[in-house]
Amino acid sequence: MNSSDVDGFFNFHDFYDSIAKKSNENHILIEVGCWLGASIIYLCERLKLYNIKPKQVVAVDTWLGSDEIGHKQYLQSIGGSEALFNKFINNIKLCKVDDLITILVNQIKL
Ligand SMILES: C[S@@+](CC[C@H](N)C(=O)[O-])C[C@H]1O[C@@H](n2cnc3c(N)ncnc32)[C@H](O)[C@@H]1O
Repeated sequence: MNSSDVDGFFNFHDFYDSIAKKSNENHILIEVGCWLGASIIYLCERLKLYNIKPKQVVAVDTWLGSDEIGHKQYLQSIGGSEALFNKFINNIKLCKVDDLITILVNQIKL
């Protein structure tokens, strides 16, 4: 399994690839808004491809979803926020990038 098997809202592959390429071991990379993990898993895959290990890769999300109707419907269909979070954990493990990711359940003030 890899990032392309993870459902989500990710189509910034070139941008994430450029972030991975520019990273080094002094950097802390933080993604706010991870959902099921598609984008942060892709970022970690690229870091591994380039053999770059940043100080930390931090996944920040409430795992409550946003106000969008699609989020609310999906959350309802799987049984809520805890199920979403568990799917995220499962995805990063199945994609073998859980060793790189620090998880922070938090609401960022926007
Ligand atoms: C469009 S989804 C992210 C898509 C994801 N990057 C992917 O690859 O599919 C937006 C995410 O941002 C999270 N979110 C929205 N507002 C937030 C906030 N203020 N603080 C933390 N997370 C937030 C939601 O819970 C949701 O998981």
